[in-house]
Amino acid sequence: MPIVNRIGDFAADMTAWRRHLHQNPELEFACHGTAAFVADKLRAFGVDEVHEGIAVSGVVGIIEGQGPGPVIGLRADMDALPMDEETGLDHASAVPGAMHACGHDGHTAMLLGAARYLAETRNFAGRVALIFQPAEEQGGGAGVMVRDGVLDRFDIGQVFAIHTAPQYPEGTFHTAPGPLMAAVDDFEVRLRGKGGHAAHPDEACDPIPAALAMVQAMQTVVSRNADPMQDMVVSVTQIHAGSAFNVIPETAWFGGTLRSFDAGARQMALRRFAEIVDGHAAAYGLAAELELIEGYPPTVNAEEPVRFAAQVAAGIVGADRVDTAATPEMGAEDFSFMLEARPGAYLFLGQGEGPSVHHPKFDFNDAVAPVGASYLARLVELAQPAAAVDPAGSGA
Ligand code: NI
Repeated sequence: MPIVNRIGDFAADMTAWRRHLHQNPELEFACHGTAAFVADKLRAFGVDEVHEGIAVSGVVGIIEGQGPGPVIGLRADMDALPMDEETGLDHASAVPGAMHACGHDGHTAMLLGAARYLAETRNFAGRVALIFQPAEEQGGGAGVMVRDGVLDRFDIGQVFAIHTAPQYPEGTFHTAPGPLMAAVDDFEVRLRGKGGHAAHPDEACDPIPAALAMVQAMQTVVSRNADPMQDMVVSVTQIHAGSAFNVIPETAWFGGTLRSFDAGARQMALRRFAEIVDGHAAAYGLAAELELIEGYPPTVNAEEPVRFAAQVAAGIVGADRVDTAATPEMGAEDFSFMLEARPGAYLFLGQGEGPSVHHPKFDFNDAVAPVGASYLARLVELAQPAAAVDPAGSGA
């Protein structure tokens, strides 16, 4: 596959960086060591500007191309997951309770690889903004960056990101226009009735039947309220009440998650949850409170950028290895906040069969790093060709 030759030359470096990051995972916003590693590398590559401490431990590097032009944003996430690693590899996590089980070590290494090449060659117009964010898994670091005005501050016009995918063959790209990953919202419902002796339910107000009725009714949001042509999931995953066979508890609570792809459908479901909880509380004569823990919005690819990104990917791996009709996933991704603010595209990069992401035996496949880095570099060169703003070639 025609990866960028120069990037192929430092594949071994990318592997070394990736394994260093893998051994030293950091969680949520506390990616300080990772950020320092990234910033050092960017400076060593001759990146023009290195801005640190964005969204706590995020880093933005700016590379100037040839002549004026727009600013393209490339994003990598840097954070790991709070879990113990079971790979037994030499480069396994040295930090108990933290592991790069989602390949963000690989995403960071690939963007560093692209940065090194772009800083060396500068065969593009305008600028590229290299966005290294913390807190993708928990905390929505990309959303914090957007709210902090990072896209405006660096005048970023469009944004691109890739995610490694063990469910797809090595060196293939998978994406689709429109929603590619779901919105995630969690909920908790707390009920307060009146406790008492199990032999005298008439003297109590039992929260358990009310909780069960609410859970059943919530299932009808998907089966009876949602557009059957739109995907949505409601899962109640916890239910807690009681402590003895002969005691009616005073309280009960349950919780779960909503996954959706459409903003209107999401709002409808959240509204129905509130109506179901309030209505059932009135019917059962107890107090109930719904708490919504709003998560990430759906990850929605814009038409033109995703078409362009697929074309760039095809130039590297061949058109037969680029799938532009990928099935959307029920997982979520905080790059969604950047795609809400700017047009752009999110692609999966197949890394070949192996344990799924978030599995204790997962490891990023270093063999695909030159493919991912080449894709990111070529995106910049093809989106903002140097010649387009310098037709006379005088800047060469
Ligand atoms: Ni991830």
